[in-house]
Amino acid sequence: VQSPALGVGPSYRPEEEKPTATVSKSVPQENVHVLPQTPQLIALLTMIRDKDTQRADFIFYSNRIIRLLVEEGLNHLPVVAHTVTSPVGKDYVGVKFEGKICGVSIMRAGESMEQGLRECCRSVRIGKILIQRNEETSKPKLFYEKLPPDIHNRWVLLLDPMLATGGSAIMAVEVLKGKGVPEEHILFLNLIASPEGIENFAKKVPKVRVITAFVDQGLNEQNYIVPGLGDFGDRYFTL
Ligand code: URA
Repeated sequence: VQSPALGVGPSYRPEEEKPTATVSKSVPQENVHVLPQTPQLIALLTMIRDKDTQRADFIFYSNRIIRLLVEEGLNHLPVVAHTVTSPVGKDYVGVKFEGKICGVSIMRAGESMEQGLRECCRSVRIGKILIQRNEETSKPKLFYEKLPPDIHNRWVLLLDPMLATGGSAIMAVEVLKGKGVPEEHILFLNLIASPEGIENFAKKVPKVRVITAFVDQGLNEQNYIVPGLGDFGDRYFTL
């Protein structure tokens, strides 16, 4: 199945004036939320998918997408009614966030998303999980975890930019569940997902809410997402 193409731009602009771009596949799982395919987002994704984009730009534009994901993710946390009085002596009926949160990054690529979370949530606690694929069995294996001791009382924003087969993300969720975090208190923030990864993930941990910027075409023989952007960790941290 081809990815859909769409005229990119605001609805008031005539269709013939909008360039056509490949937009995210839509997915049937109701716990999966794909960011609106705005001209901004598509332009940012175009930058980071380009093999000729240099590291400084890759970091800059990835960070902007990460910020959009974090802002959208926070919309899924519970709020309670909260009324304040403004300096002119009038009440404003609003809301405030309820409950504690923490971030958990899946190392190493997920660590790229920590700063974006810190920018939105001052002094947020951040844990880490290292999972690596066993070369022989190609099964994911847990190597390291460092998590806030009271994580069972927190909403968890799980961070990993690329959802390929879903193996690592599913294992990370199992680790969190083992620490007493209810599945429905986990939000998984992700830049690019494969349809296979989304399907696996939603089948194994259906109550985790997924916020992704884009569901791509598929996977290649090496389990890279296509068209994807290559190895996210390499491009963000090393090359
Ligand atoms: N991880 C990456 O960095 N890129 C992919 O395409 C898949 C997994």
